[in-house]
Amino acid sequence: MKLAQFKQQMEQVHGLDISMYDETFLGKSIEKRIQGTQCNSIEDYWYYLEQNYGEARTLCESLHIHFSEFFRDPLTFALLERVIIPELIQKKIANQQKEIRIWSAGCAAGQEAYSIAVLMEEIITNPVLNYRIFATDLDENVLNVARLGHYPVEAIKNVSLKRSQTWFTRQGESYIIQPSLQKHIDFSNFDLLEEKRSCPPASIFGEFDLVFCCNLLIYYQPDYRNLILNKFIDSLTLGGYLVTGASERVVALAHSYREIYPQASIFCVNQK
Ligand SMILES: C[S@@+](CC[C@H](N)C(=O)[O-])C[C@H]1O[C@@H](n2cnc3c(N)ncnc32)[C@H](O)[C@@H]1O
Repeated sequence: MKLAQFKQQMEQVHGLDISMYDETFLGKSIEKRIQGTQCNSIEDYWYYLEQNYGEARTLCESLHIHFSEFFRDPLTFALLERVIIPELIQKKIANQQKEIRIWSAGCAAGQEAYSIAVLMEEIITNPVLNYRIFATDLDENVLNVARLGHYPVEAIKNVSLKRSQTWFTRQGESYIIQPSLQKHIDFSNFDLLEEKRSCPPASIFGEFDLVFCCNLLIYYQPDYRNLILNKFIDSLTLGGYLVTGASERVVALAHSYREIYPQASIFCVNQK
């Protein structure tokens, strides 16, 4: 059985559309489920899918990769800390604006949103300036972990000792995020493939100064990557920035984004 036929049958028999996923990623994910169910071939696996209610859902869930880390890409976070955020703050103060608006799209269990919040807390010194982070994902389970802000010890391996002491409280085998960070972050469910809206409803009108969409685009087919990247153009302010994962630089470059520092995966929009 070819991948195309497998996708078609998944839709017809199980009502599950998996056509939006990148073919290499999809092929590897099916291969993992073939091995995980001790099947010998894709045909065997199709038979297994028909016999085992629940396997179709398991396969679909395996297509959502939730791996994340605090301060995941050191070069990107260093540039944000030293250049991008300080510049943004200066611009806001000069324009007498009071809020920096940020979107963490595909936030998983919140590591990215909390890392950004730590930077904002450390850099903003002007008491009049506030920041708001809208963190979204399509998976309610990871959003609940994010809202709770409890992480296992190994999750904070990229966090410096100083930051771990300032922004986390150790409780047994967990590290608990400082509640003062949580009040700046709104975690909500939003599917980036939803065609009607270009920004999460919780943010009301978008207008973001910074959008993070890291390690998500690679899992989708080119048309869907473009659909998502178009949304960010609509929801970024003029002069705003998009941050992607290192492996997605080429995807943003092939769209209409311009990289502002080589290899740093931080982009601005050429025109709106
Ligand atoms: C690999 S994690 C990346 C997390 C974080 N951005 C990072 O770079 O560490 C990808 C996240 O994107 C979410 N995701 C995938 N497709 C999505 C979509 N269409 N809409 C919203 N979230 C999505 C997944 O549920 C997952 O939590």
